[in-house]
Amino acid sequence: MVIDVMIAEPGELTQQDLASAEALVRAAFGDSFRTHDWLHGVDGVHVLITEDDALLAHASVVTRTLRYDGEAFATGYVESVAVRSDQQGRGLGRVVMDHTESIIRAQHQLGALNAVESAAPFYAARGWMLWTGHTQADTPDGAVIDTYHPDDRIFVLSMANGAQRFSASLPLICDWRVGDLW
Ligand SMILES: CC(C)(COP(=O)(O)OP(=O)(O)OC[C@H]1O[C@@H](n2cnc3c(N)ncnc32)[C@H](O)[C@@H]1OP(=O)(O)O)[C@@H](O)C(=O)NCCC(=O)NCCS
Repeated sequence: MVIDVMIAEPGELTQQDLASAEALVRAAFGDSFRTHDWLHGVDGVHVLITEDDALLAHASVVTRTLRYDGEAFATGYVESVAVRSDQQGRGLGRVVMDHTESIIRAQHQLGALNAVESAAPFYAARGWMLWTGHTQADTPDGAVIDTYHPDDRIFVLSMANGAQRFSASLPLICDWRVGDLW
């Protein structure tokens, strides 16, 4: 397989590049994917996989702050992971996540994402840890609210030596944003 991998820093993609990526992601996720789901990843570092100039796979890593046990973690939050429907199962998801995780390791203290149910085993097999503790969010007015949602499947990827630091006995707290908080 001869593919090209492009890493685009925030703001580097043209509107046309972004429109192609959004179309691919929307098609892969189906009707449940809403505009704010796409917007959450737009300002991130984009991983784009192409073959003969055709876009086949995409992921975005957005910088967020997650808090745990009184400590703030610069977090690479993964959004809009998708492989074009007719190209799934040929290893492109693996390639896109290899690059995504490299970005997180280089630039962040922690990785996190909220997986759709069908993709949860894909992340678990890559060493992402399903978060089984409570989740909360910091609100703009300084309060902390509970964010439990039955559809959330939050995974964290902790860096070397960090795995034992996170236990489900304390909540994982995200920063505020419009749309789904996780
Ligand atoms: C999930 C997705 C990104 C995986 O990409 P892919 O190109 O099909 O996956 P790959 O071919 O690279 O598979 C890599 C490995 O993961 C496994 N895998 C892929 N999808 C899987 C799934 N849904 N559940 C369990 N394992 C999965 C493969 O069997 C393979 O295992 P191996 O390394 O032992 O051979 C892709 O199916 C997709 O875009 N789905 C629709 C959108 C979506 O759900 N995105 C994720 C949102 S959180």
